[in-house]
Amino acid sequence: MSILKNFTSLEDVSDPVALVDQVIKCKSELQNREFAKGLSFVMLFFNPSLRTRLSSQRAAQLIGMDSMVLDVGSGWPLEFELGQVMDLDKSEHIKEAAQVISQYADIIGIRSFPSLKDRNLDYSEPVLNAFLEYAGKPIVNLESGTGHPLQGLADMTTIREFRKTEKPRILLTWAPHPRALPQSVPNSFAEWTLSQGYELTIAHPEGYELNPQFTEGANVVYNPEKAYEGIDFVYAKNWSSYADYGKISNSDPRWMVDQQKMLITNQAYFMHCLPVRRNVIVRDEVIDSKQSLVIKQANNRTFAALAVLKNIISHMNT
Ligand code: CP
Repeated sequence: MSILKNFTSLEDVSDPVALVDQVIKCKSELQNREFAKGLSFVMLFFNPSLRTRLSSQRAAQLIGMDSMVLDVGSGWPLEFELGQVMDLDKSEHIKEAAQVISQYADIIGIRSFPSLKDRNLDYSEPVLNAFLEYAGKPIVNLESGTGHPLQGLADMTTIREFRKTEKPRILLTWAPHPRALPQSVPNSFAEWTLSQGYELTIAHPEGYELNPQFTEGANVVYNPEKAYEGIDFVYAKNWSSYADYGKISNSDPRWMVDQQKMLITNQAYFMHCLPVRRNVIVRDEVIDSKQSLVIKQANNRTFAALAVLKNIISHMNT
């Protein structure tokens, strides 16, 4: 049993296997709309979202919790440094902002993508940590500079539902993309997969190694085809370089997931967190096949958020 005080990363979860059990249980039970009546979930989106936003609101709705969403984009000039003379463009300090939001919220959710310019800054999670320090309310990570734990939890739920063995073989493969993307989803997918005791191979071009903090125990290969042999689940994702931080050095279409590669697998399922660029990351023939789980993953986002909210609320006054 995991007792959640916050849900900012896998580190907040003492038993990741039990938390997947809780998601599956949430999916099968009728929810009590009185469970969180009178409580409010405030979500701040510094970046756009379809799945995270709607699934989190839906989860709150299922237990009678009010949700409020603030799209702050880049138009909210927040100061994070202490001791600053705020005579330039930053009009509000995070110290007040977080405390003010906490007057209206019982739980606060935050989406804040990394800059992809300053690795040390991004990996220090300044936005999440400032809210943890000043808000005094449980914090849920809706995708941050280093991780997307709600996505990781939903993906582990999907794998649990479709696995044919206790220890499936899973491939996380890099695939090309025209824009530089964060490492958050692959970081979370890798660490959550390993937390379940599954066998993980990560395939990517040289120079795209993820932060080893998230991948210890995974097998890394640099070949776009060989990695598919005997695999049960193929998870595709693009990410920008961690070593040459935020840069793109490869756009080789041989890394795209296609039917030819899927035929090498053990009749693998295809997974992606979405949104996905068709025929750049994955060919239509794969994402449209019966082996594709992408919509089921999106559905499980609601139940992952539901399990997290219920768990936090159950332990809020303990
Ligand atoms: N997968 C995911 O987090 O999707 P959104 O960016 O639409 O929330």
